[in-house]
Amino acid sequence: MSLLLSSMTENVGLITLNRPSALNALSEKLVKELLQALNEFDSNPEVGAIVLTGEGKAFSAGADIKELNDLTFVNAYMCKFLQNLNDGIAAIRKPILAAVNGYAASILLGGGCELAMMCDLIYAGETAKFGQPEVKIGTIPGAGGTQRLIKAIGKAKAMEMILTGDFITAQDAEKAGLVAKVYPVDKLIPEAIEIGKRIACLSTPVIVMAKEAVNQAEEMSLKNGLLFESRLYHATFGLNDRKEGMTAFLQKRKAQWSNS
Ligand code: CAA
Repeated sequence: MSLLLSSMTENVGLITLNRPSALNALSEKLVKELLQALNEFDSNPEVGAIVLTGEGKAFSAGADIKELNDLTFVNAYMCKFLQNLNDGIAAIRKPILAAVNGYAASILLGGGCELAMMCDLIYAGETAKFGQPEVKIGTIPGAGGTQRLIKAIGKAKAMEMILTGDFITAQDAEKAGLVAKVYPVDKLIPEAIEIGKRIACLSTPVIVMAKEAVNQAEEMSLKNGLLFESRLYHATFGLNDRKEGMTAFLQKRKAQWSNS
């Protein structure tokens, strides 16, 4: 049985982690299915953006502790699934919007919080809670938490969350810059899909270049990042869509994108 649901709303792919009995804990099988679904949408020319959410009260409560419990150092060291998750999501060209849902308190912990941070944008329902509670089970974040959280919310707040395992609310996550916007719980998925549609209606190569340039800011020095941005900016002048976008603006009409 599949551990996720996959569907399309117009030009937006929707992936729902569907293992609610285990609060969508990230088992090896779930991660494999997730990467497969992401790759299918990424290579589908009809899809311009992807929304990722979770069924039930948790977006994801992190890595599957039942699978982790018997790991030895060597098993953990040799097991590549979290690395595959990081690398696999980094390789997706189209924007991924995490919609941290929940009709009760939605929980996003450990690897779940790290999964959301691997995405390009995070939207949250107003009852969502974010945390990296790994220290409470004798380990530390292992899917990017110590590296990405500090970049998202700064050292003081990241250190506090990681050292205490305490949760922060969606509102605090928005104030700190981890979350782009908080919505009423029942509006979250429709709003995330709506934003996905607005992105997907633009020129796909332009959006992919914009995403690539922004993500490089986390990897490069300012000097190299500015050069990288310039080169991609110059590359847009090789696109029919760049010519169409500017011509349509000057002719006061709506642009007709050809994704070329
Ligand atoms: N892995 C496996 N199963 C999990 C799980 C996880 N991360 N989180 C919850 N579950 C399971 C529970 O075992 C329980 O299953 P059973 O009904 O079969 O007993 C079910 O989901 C419901 O969970 P609770 O009864 O605990 O629900 P709750 O509402 O009382 O508490 C919670 C919710 C606070 C999220 C609590 O479940 C919890 O603390 N979960 C663990 C969170 C955590 O430590 N995450 C980090 C995992 S390690 C990691 O992610 C490493 C990394 O960085 C890669």
